[in-house]
Amino acid sequence: MNQGKLLYAGKAKSVYRTDTKDTLIVEFRDDITAFDGGKKDTLKNKGSYNAGVSAFFFEYLEKHGVKTHYLQMLDNHRMAVRTLSMIQLEVIVRNVAAGSIVRNYPFREGTRLDPPVIVIDFKDDCRHDPMLNDDLILALKLATPQELRKIKKISLEINCLLSALLAKQGILLVDFKIEFGRQGKTIRLGDEISMDSMRLWDKVTKESLDKDVYRFNKGDVMATYNRVACRITGAAPRSAVAKKKPAAVQKNRRRSLRPVAKQKAKTR
Ligand code: C5P
Repeated sequence: MNQGKLLYAGKAKSVYRTDTKDTLIVEFRDDITAFDGGKKDTLKNKGSYNAGVSAFFFEYLEKHGVKTHYLQMLDNHRMAVRTLSMIQLEVIVRNVAAGSIVRNYPFREGTRLDPPVIVIDFKDDCRHDPMLNDDLILALKLATPQELRKIKKISLEINCLLSALLAKQGILLVDFKIEFGRQGKTIRLGDEISMDSMRLWDKVTKESLDKDVYRFNKGDVMATYNRVACRITGAAPRSAVAKKKPAAVQKNRRRSLRPVAKQKAKTR
């Protein structure tokens, strides 16, 4: 597959056309932004950590029946995906009160939200992604009633699957943002699921393991991303990888972090 023209450049990812039907390439860049683009940096390797974790989650979710746009990794920061017609919604699932709902509503940070709270924002940078409700979503014709029901159902399924997976690594899934698109009549999970789009806390210490480290200068962002990516995917930390024999590294690493040249081509 050959990479074609740039279709879209977002704050941290670029999307390219390809010469393969209905297939795009998502490049995870090393750029990181926060506060509506008010804080910006470029951090070496950041793109590959997010790409690896996203691929790992997409593969895991597909295995558990969730339809996603993911096809395969091309190298450590580029992913081949199905072309979707994106739905202009940001679906946020919250298990624990943190971030904007603590700022905007009388929740104490760390309060368990059971059942989880779904918040849906309008994906529109110019309007600063305002929060929607069902009536607004339908009035704006962003989704049909059936699609909206399906989007909420899939979002809660994803929450259960990821919460359980992360819990095994001692990580609490506080909240996350996902986006969906249409492929014909099928709704698929698109975009990414990474440290940039989730809030993850160490279960014991409650230490932030996500973009809050960057937002609020809580420590070394890349050291955190490296550590959490390894904790999630089971891969060896980058510095440790360099010291090991290549053969041993490949054997121990999970499939999604390996470039496609070393994988068997997927038929999906
Ligand atoms: O800022 P807020 O608390 O509303 O964010 C909730 C979750 O959604 C966080 O995990 C955050 O990283 C994610 N998010 C995102 N992109 C946005 C807004 C929120 O990834 N535009």
